[in-house]
Amino acid sequence: FDAVDVIRVKRDGGTLSPEQIDWVIDAYTRGAVAEEQMAALNMAILLNGMDRGEIARWTAAMIASGERMDFSSLSRPTSDKHSTGGVGDKITLPLAPLVAVFGVAVPQLSGRGLGHTGGTLDKLESIPGWRAALTNDEMMAQLENVGAVICQAGSGLAPADRKLYALRDVTGTVEAIPLIASSIMSKKIAEGTGALVLDVKVGSGAFMKDEVAARELARTMVDLGTDAGVRTVALITNMSTPLGLTAGNALEVRESVEVLSGGGPQDVVDLTVALAVEMLAGAGRPTAEDEVRSALSDGRAMDVWRAMITAQGGDVDAVLPVAVEQEHVVAERDGILTGLDALDVGIAAWRLGAGRARKEDPVQAGAGVEIHVKPGERVVAGQPLLTLHTDTPERFARALESARSAVTIEDAAPAAPRDLVITR
Ligand code: URA
Repeated sequence: FDAVDVIRVKRDGGTLSPEQIDWVIDAYTRGAVAEEQMAALNMAILLNGMDRGEIARWTAAMIASGERMDFSSLSRPTSDKHSTGGVGDKITLPLAPLVAVFGVAVPQLSGRGLGHTGGTLDKLESIPGWRAALTNDEMMAQLENVGAVICQAGSGLAPADRKLYALRDVTGTVEAIPLIASSIMSKKIAEGTGALVLDVKVGSGAFMKDEVAARELARTMVDLGTDAGVRTVALITNMSTPLGLTAGNALEVRESVEVLSGGGPQDVVDLTVALAVEMLAGAGRPTAEDEVRSALSDGRAMDVWRAMITAQGGDVDAVLPVAVEQEHVVAERDGILTGLDALDVGIAAWRLGAGRARKEDPVQAGAGVEIHVKPGERVVAGQPLLTLHTDTPERFARALESARSAVTIEDAAPAAPRDLVITR
């Protein structure tokens, strides 16, 4: 095969053959197809799409680029969750221990944040001593003994995706449904989970800004999982406003611990419970919603959390880092807070130091945004709406700009606020 011929097929709206797909993914992973050639092919895919057969083959080729994990020797069934990414989305932290309470093992391979969306590993690394990198053997032992693990995906898992994602990130080709679906699902299928629940975000803070696109992404991923023998379902959930009352690393860990203590913001609790119910059903352990909720309030999920963090070297009783400087955003007038835009809050948290601009940048553990008022609530002029946290006060000016633009205050409440879980 010749890379230019493959690019031309997709450029002209044609269908790639299975052999062409296998070849191009393998050759790119080995370095035989150049970055600029893969960039051109990605752009042709973004513009012209791929059919179901092409997406399935593309995903299979990415899985074949690396190792596959096998959890069949565990004494418990496995179930995992993937979120397409959002602002304040700390759900994995309470969710993994909660599901483990009911005898289902959760092998959660997570990533770091890039751009305005936070990364689960960055959040957990704000806990002193906690370690993201585990060997496969350590992961298996923890799954058997604790029931939940949140760790970094090993470099052997879908290496084609690792390379491709980095290329897409700098060539404007992240937002292509076939590429997002194959990227996410190649990692989840290679990971070897028995069941998978997808939390497909829609709204300003998500990759998918509208519901039609979110549904198409969800359907594409559910088809890929089902065809690969993974029991896969998707929820489409609202990401037009941040989840919970915090966006940032240690701030989100603190909020997750509140949820695990039986408290925490209602939307975080509700989404955690909704996803847990789906994960348990997928693993063949259907559990009533009330029963799941009670494991948050009676301390059982907290016990698993403590064991899970301790097993990875984290000091569960340590005081979490707090940023040295704070600034407030206050209401400019009386009225109803009708909007708190997820993307703007995410950018503010990112500018404060919670996120990174380049892969190799460090993040600040204490940086981020604390939210005091949620959409739908009444506010009075001068009332604090947000608190911005950073160790580097020179970051306040630009962060304040986006934090202020996140806020909409009007005289009347909107007709009906959007449901958190839009559809299943
Ligand atoms: N998350 C991924 O893992 N891949 C994508 O392409 C988008 C989000």
